[in-house]
Amino acid sequence: MSTVEIAEVRSDDMDRFVEIAHGFWGGAPEPAMELVSKVLDRAMLARTDGEDIGAAAVIDFRLSLPGGQRVAMDGVTWVGVSATARRRGVLRAMMTHCLESARERGVGLLGLGASESSIYRRFGYGVATHICTAQIVTAHAALGTPFRDPGRLRFQSLDTSIATLRDVESRQRDRVAGIGRSEAYWRRIAVTDAKPEGETGPAQLVVHVGSGGDVDGFVVYRLEERWTDHLADGVVHVKELTALNLDAHLALWQHVLTMDLAEHLRMERFWPDDPIQHLLADPRRLRTATSDDLHLRVVDVAAMLQARRYSCDGSVVIEVIDPACPDIAGRYRLDGGRDDAAVSRTEEPAGLLLDGASLASVFLGDTSVAALHRAGLVEELRRGAVASATAMFTWSPRPWLNHRF
Ligand SMILES: CC(C)(COP(=O)(O)OP(=O)(O)OC[C@H]1O[C@@H](n2cnc3c(N)ncnc32)[C@H](O)[C@@H]1OP(=O)(O)O)[C@@H](O)C(=O)NCCC(=O)NCCS
Repeated sequence: MSTVEIAEVRSDDMDRFVEIAHGFWGGAPEPAMELVSKVLDRAMLARTDGEDIGAAAVIDFRLSLPGGQRVAMDGVTWVGVSATARRRGVLRAMMTHCLESARERGVGLLGLGASESSIYRRFGYGVATHICTAQIVTAHAALGTPFRDPGRLRFQSLDTSIATLRDVESRQRDRVAGIGRSEAYWRRIAVTDAKPEGETGPAQLVVHVGSGGDVDGFVVYRLEERWTDHLADGVVHVKELTALNLDAHLALWQHVLTMDLAEHLRMERFWPDDPIQHLLADPRRLRTATSDDLHLRVVDVAAMLQARRYSCDGSVVIEVIDPACPDIAGRYRLDGGRDDAAVSRTEEPAGLLLDGASLASVFLGDTSVAALHRAGLVEELRRGAVASATAMFTWSPRPWLNHRF
């Protein structure tokens, strides 16, 4: 195959980009297609001999880190290669372009949700967060201790509630891996959610109003009506549930778990640290299955390690291997704690040796340094370095990406 060229897409050509990229995925129906181009900030097409054969786009996000700081992250999305041009290096060319673009613009992180978890490690991406699917038979979903809501619940139209939802999200101070969703991003969700999906009806939004009168949480769900032998057998499909305090959290969960005519609750993006797991009378009834979610590529190691906070005071010298970027590779001295962190390049002997993908996996505290050491992905060069880095990098609560982009 001839050389692959990467052409950046002009902002007024974004609609055409979406059409081309959509074709590379097989052209399956895509809800609110007309709004996709409004959500993308940059895009590229891979070409050979004048033919478009690959596509990728980027959304500018700010990702929240342990300690609350938010940093710029290039969210890579709409990646596809024509079925007639696969396994010839087109994705590799686009990934190289994404990395170079982030570096030129001083963006320290790239992030994506992978269609297959086997693809991106070779490009320096590591699994930084996990997500669960959860399901429960609602007859077995009673809370261990009865809960009386000091606030109240209210249905609202998603379409007219975007500012409220963005406000709630922006006030989630301790959420790690939260991404700020723009007005345009929410607009696309609202249009998509207004349509029935599969056997389910349109999405419904219920907000929680705290005793002080402010909205402090929301849940979005779809109902699937089912009847078996004249018995109600419906399903509540919870899309997302976000709350700023435990009362709001419990009130919203109680709402979806006690819906008339629904026997089952399913949730595709269940937070692995969701408190509801500890509050059910019969917690084993909540069945969960875990999957990789956000894959990160650390572009500016020093800036990113300095931007997050650490669970305890400590110091470690980390040697990062990065075959694709010899100038990112090297030794970094990290002195960090709950309130502050300082990171600099160093010639000191390293305590830990790991590659960029492993660094990304421990970056948000979701996977421990010790776990990767046991897996042979982190080498301990100084006795005690794994234990102290594990204690530093671990973080609670576990990270939780708002939305798969
Ligand atoms: C996945 C996809 C983008 C790969 O594009 P491609 O141009 O064929 O990939 P490349 O030829 O550049 O491959 C680069 C490397 O990734 C590997 N790779 C590519 N696709 C892979 C896959 N699905 N699973 C595992 N490895 C994969 C290649 O083997 C190659 O490995 P190597 O260079 O380390 O030996 C393409 O197959 C596609 O469009 N699939 C359907 C849509 C999709 O899944 N998009 C990804 C969204 S996250």
